[in-house]
Amino acid sequence: MTDAQNEPKKLFIKTYGCQMNVYDSERMAEAMGAKGYVLTEALEDADLVLLNTCHIREKAAEKVYSDLGRLRPYKDAKPDLKIGVAGCVAQAEGEEILNRMPLVDLVVGSQNYHRLPDMVAAAERGEHPVDTEFPAEDKFDLLPERPVQARPTAFLTVQEGCDKFCAFCVVPYTRGAEISRPVSRILSEAHKLVEKGVREITLLGQNVNGYHGEGQGGAWGLGRLVRELAKIDGLDRIRYTTSHPNDMADDLIAAHGEEPKLMPYLHLPVQSGSDRVLKAMNRKHTAEEYLRLIERIRAARPDIMLSSDFIAGFPGETDADHQDSLDLIREVGFGAAYSFKYSPRPGTPAAGREGVPSEVGDARLQELQALITAQQKATQESMVGRTVGVLFEKPGRLEGQWIGKSDYLHAVYVKADGIGQGTLAQVRITAAGPNSLAGELL
Ligand code: SAH
Ligand code: SF4
Ligand code: F3S
Repeated sequence: MTDAQNEPKKLFIKTYGCQMNVYDSERMAEAMGAKGYVLTEALEDADLVLLNTCHIREKAAEKVYSDLGRLRPYKDAKPDLKIGVAGCVAQAEGEEILNRMPLVDLVVGSQNYHRLPDMVAAAERGEHPVDTEFPAEDKFDLLPERPVQARPTAFLTVQEGCDKFCAFCVVPYTRGAEISRPVSRILSEAHKLVEKGVREITLLGQNVNGYHGEGQGGAWGLGRLVRELAKIDGLDRIRYTTSHPNDMADDLIAAHGEEPKLMPYLHLPVQSGSDRVLKAMNRKHTAEEYLRLIERIRAARPDIMLSSDFIAGFPGETDADHQDSLDLIREVGFGAAYSFKYSPRPGTPAAGREGVPSEVGDARLQELQALITAQQKATQESMVGRTVGVLFEKPGRLEGQWIGKSDYLHAVYVKADGIGQGTLAQVRITAAGPNSLAGELL
């Protein structure tokens, strides 16, 4: 016992789901770090295991339970090991998780991470705390300051929650109503990140372009926030994700043309190319409106790379609707896109509707993915011969090789002297592979 008291306690975190969960995991690690916990990548060393979970599709949620089952032998070997479930499954299922998986010690919903240290302390006393309330206070204000970053890129949550209620989606229930953090908090967090060596910030929100945080003179939109962040010396790149088409304000579109630090890449999910399906999804826009929006964005920033999300086999989707999605993809020409087979989620309006046969959903998903992959490949190949900015993040596997991200978010490999973590350089692309580009320093 006396030896163990001098050893710092160890925390193992596994993150599922979206970038916001990645950000939240970092903040939870920081909260526990303030209590003396250090991160470990070895499960067998851990005193505390946190699963930061995702509820978006059934597969993601079920994975959590199979992973929890796999923790049994670790808990048997080390009875003091505490196991916590955080994130969107925690928010959606709460107490239920303890009933289904008695080896779990605590359940912390996505808005209560500032309470994690107290909950761990309670678990250490043998209690089984569950907290999935949506508190009035801003959890980020109550979390400790972010420590030194070891990377040139960082996420920064500016907005959380969603009021859109797409008929398939759990996010409005797991993340709650839309809340925007005040401008001053975001600016001070951004300044601190930059002081610590961060050169690229990705602003996060479930509906990030719906940002309307309290700023000087009233509520600021995302365009204004981006322009203000761009004034920070040493911050070279700004990105944001994820956006809803109906919240692409004129000022934000204009910023894409006017603010060079705002990177030419935009993830703008459309979900379907069929007006009938879009209506059934409660998306509140038509395919034509989406296409006109893309035209306006491209008018502001002609080289912008677009990406999107599609759902295959939404209830009621016909072959003709599916063809409409393929047509929309052909018409836009996405640099990247993600497609998912519809997964009915408990508590969402679409869950009770009659679905399309599973094998039809599979076949449509494959068709979407084949078309998207072909577009992605064509886009990668079109980069050969072009010169792009690359921010280098880490050494590659080969001697002297570095990996970075281009302005358009492509992974780029370069072998050259003088590159280090955080180097931002102009690179001429010389070759395109399936998932990355190769280039040489200019
Ligand atoms: N807040 C983001 C991301 C939501 S989840 C946004 O609004 O875009 C990311 C993607 O998962 C969605 O864009 C959608 O394509 C997909 N998705 C969400 N719920 C789903 C479900 N029930 N079944 C299949 N895919 C789903
Ligand atoms: Fe889900 Fe729709 Fe909100 Fe995106 S906009 S988080 S898909 S409800
Ligand atoms: Fe998943 Fe929650 Fe993100 S459901 S996609 S982790 S907001």
